[in-house]
Amino acid sequence: MKPKITLNKNGSFQVENVDKLSYLYFPLTNYHSLKSSITPSLHGDAKIDQNSFLLLPTSVEDLHHSLFNRNVYFNVNDSYTWSVTGNTPYQLLEKDEVSVEADFLVHKVIRKNSDIHCTVESFVPFNDTYQELHQVTFTNVSNDSMKIKPAVSIPMYSRSADNIRDHRHVTALLNDAELFENGIINKPTFSFDERGHLRNDIYYSVFVQSDDAAVAKYWPVLEEFVGEGGNLLDPLVVKEDVQNSFKVGDSVSGYELTGAFEYKEVELKANESFTVHISIMADKDKDKTLDTVKKMDSVYFAKLRNETIQNWRDEINKLEISVADETFNAWVKWVTLQPTLRRIYGCSFLPHHDYGRGGRGWRDLWQDLLALILMQPTEVRPQLLNNFLGIRIDGSNATIIGDKPGEFLADRNNIPRVWMDHGSWPLITTKLYVDKTGDYEFYLEKQHYFSDKFTHYTKNVLENHNDESTILKTKSGEEYEGCVIEHLLVQNVVPFFNVGKHNNIRLEDADWNDGLDMAHQHGESVAFTSFYGGNLIELATILRKLQSKGITSIELFEEFSLLLKDVDYASISKKKNTLQTYFDAVAKQISGKKVSHNIDALAKKLDEMGELLLSQVRENEWLTSENGSWFNGYYDNDSNRLDNPDKEHMTLTGQVFSIMCGAATNNQIKNIIQSADKYLFDETVGGYKLNTDYREVKENMGRLFGFAYGHKENGAMFSHMAFMYSNALYRRGFAHAGFKVMDTVFHHSVDIETSKIYPGVPEYFDPKGRGLYHYLTGSASWYILNAVTEVFGIKGDFGDVLLEPKLLKSQFNEEGKASIKTIINYNLVEIEYQNKDFLDFGEYTISEVFVDGESVSFIRTDMGVEFEENPIQKITVTLSK
Ligand code: G1P
Repeated sequence: MKPKITLNKNGSFQVENVDKLSYLYFPLTNYHSLKSSITPSLHGDAKIDQNSFLLLPTSVEDLHHSLFNRNVYFNVNDSYTWSVTGNTPYQLLEKDEVSVEADFLVHKVIRKNSDIHCTVESFVPFNDTYQELHQVTFTNVSNDSMKIKPAVSIPMYSRSADNIRDHRHVTALLNDAELFENGIINKPTFSFDERGHLRNDIYYSVFVQSDDAAVAKYWPVLEEFVGEGGNLLDPLVVKEDVQNSFKVGDSVSGYELTGAFEYKEVELKANESFTVHISIMADKDKDKTLDTVKKMDSVYFAKLRNETIQNWRDEINKLEISVADETFNAWVKWVTLQPTLRRIYGCSFLPHHDYGRGGRGWRDLWQDLLALILMQPTEVRPQLLNNFLGIRIDGSNATIIGDKPGEFLADRNNIPRVWMDHGSWPLITTKLYVDKTGDYEFYLEKQHYFSDKFTHYTKNVLENHNDESTILKTKSGEEYEGCVIEHLLVQNVVPFFNVGKHNNIRLEDADWNDGLDMAHQHGESVAFTSFYGGNLIELATILRKLQSKGITSIELFEEFSLLLKDVDYASISKKKNTLQTYFDAVAKQISGKKVSHNIDALAKKLDEMGELLLSQVRENEWLTSENGSWFNGYYDNDSNRLDNPDKEHMTLTGQVFSIMCGAATNNQIKNIIQSADKYLFDETVGGYKLNTDYREVKENMGRLFGFAYGHKENGAMFSHMAFMYSNALYRRGFAHAGFKVMDTVFHHSVDIETSKIYPGVPEYFDPKGRGLYHYLTGSASWYILNAVTEVFGIKGDFGDVLLEPKLLKSQFNEEGKASIKTIINYNLVEIEYQNKDFLDFGEYTISEVFVDGESVSFIRTDMGVEFEENPIQKITVTLSK
């Protein structure tokens, strides 16, 4: 029996035979930020942060091998044990049928056989608690009456993930629990973690509630619940009538704990049920815990479940897509939710995780905001401004972002590194924000700079640096502030001078691809040379736009002028000297003096720099052989090119940014598409792979070449880069090719038998087509960005509406319509394209536009049609020849 998924119109879904997939997981969370995961066998964990895990920390292989899952056992007719997780010896022989029904962050497992029908519905309520709620309903579907003895067991980890090995036993000695009517609260004395031994202030609890039976025995000590000779497959307490249990009011300390409650035997006649509710919670307030669990019953559970679904729906309804394929419309709702999940879970807190301790990296911070801008622009401004606080005056930045606003660190282990792409992302995000909202004053908003002991792109360390503050000061000791556009200029102009032997920007310690981390001395990223080139031109355009708003000059800190001096840009050594002079000048403090720059002159300079970078790539890095033509994306540490058509060596990244940022000509793009189709496209893994197989552990390039080929950053179909490839193609008008990228990933993801994930996009697909690192990937933001701004072409231009649809004929429904609901100038607006003649992209143009029912006049630009009207509800657009 194969797993089969059915997606409903509203995004809810069912999966039959879900037990045939052992690595599936589903997120359960809320804005208060309890981060849980759950599987059909109730595996997965729950935590507030790295140091506060309610359940045992779970990595992906634990999903099938651990017995520390949430569990409810039933002794059936005194003859065998049956459990909701399907792991008892009886069930391993007599398989149940298992399916899942899921809605927005509610997960329900249905497990049945000829005698038993059991459902476990789980969610994290959308309120201010750190609480998981479960409702377990066991029904006798046999014709005879059945005697059951239920026993709930939720192993309580109650400590830091650091103690999964280190001090594992000793930290059990810290446990200090008390038994309540139907519950247990554990408040370990200390929290042992990398911060030292702190007094713990969190109450971890498990409470149960049933109207169908009363708790008869309490078994808080895990080893007693398991029993000598027993195990968590078939605990002794469930199998036998064990005596000497604990009772309400007892204290238990110094042992591994479980929230285990044995019920009195219940007799179920045919079709009768037993229901139990389980709350797993952590809170600093014991009374709040006790008050919260008091309310628990079926009515309360149903109310919270409905509110949870409604709240998540309200969240994702800020973007709704309606094209011909109904399954796509439903599937994309889960993609829409993903950026929110990544903001909550970071990259650490679902069973597949990279660095596993929480926090997000610099790049992720900016990617995640893309989706937020499209869905909740009102919340973005303060976050966006705050992020600029992480930029150093030398153009590098803090790489670790703390939980609190404005908390930035050089690196988790205080090992500074420069990811050379970091400077490139803030501009895209900020531009999207301003274009979508018209809030152009944001560019002139003031912000501080980050400053620590590292200078010169982290290559120098200031001796005797003992300033605790991380804000850059002027020589007179004042905290320096510069406008947002100044920060963006620093980030994009500095790299222009930071070039390697071939006049491309140095790779430093890696770029977008974290795995390219071993070409520190001589590596160059041609890919990001294009990106920065495009950015410099974009900055010039923004400055001119500001000029059209009456701003004729901007003030920049005095030392920045060093980067604007006329030097021979063809000379690598002169560029390096300029950079050195600049780095020296800003290394300690800056003067604090400001120089006024005429916008025209500055924009001209930026255009010149940008064009130079783009032509450098266009002319010097284009490779051709009889195997095909494409761009070189990198130089390794021996200064050799990484891409090589003669050897059929191709990187996708090398192509993406040259297309996106205008280095590639249309002819070059056509060649790239052909070559990518030939060397990188593989439908069985969801589309375009990151690179071809180099068959070499390239120590002169990076750790990724140590990964087996086809996995993660070494040649997997890596969603983030694939979607940026699609975006680049759409931007340059190659809509059919761009569509193919997105469509292949969609079809692959939704094919659960192969992708083995619930709906959504994973970080990547492995060589067998399995989706990994599901939910927590920056690619989801790019998917949404692409759908809104390219496929539907809902762009903004300093707040004016700009429409440039690139929908294909196949995307219009049988009435010739395709529509999207998205935020325009803070209103949720429906934009409907009407294509009565079923024309394909390239054949149609916009002939009429109605804003809230009124025909409006618009101007045609080379981007599309633009108008100033602020829509409240609906834009209808007629497409014709
Ligand atoms: C992850 C990281 C991202 C990095 C990428 C490639 O991608 O989060 O910063 O650029 O790997 O190394 P994601 O999981 O966001 O798709």
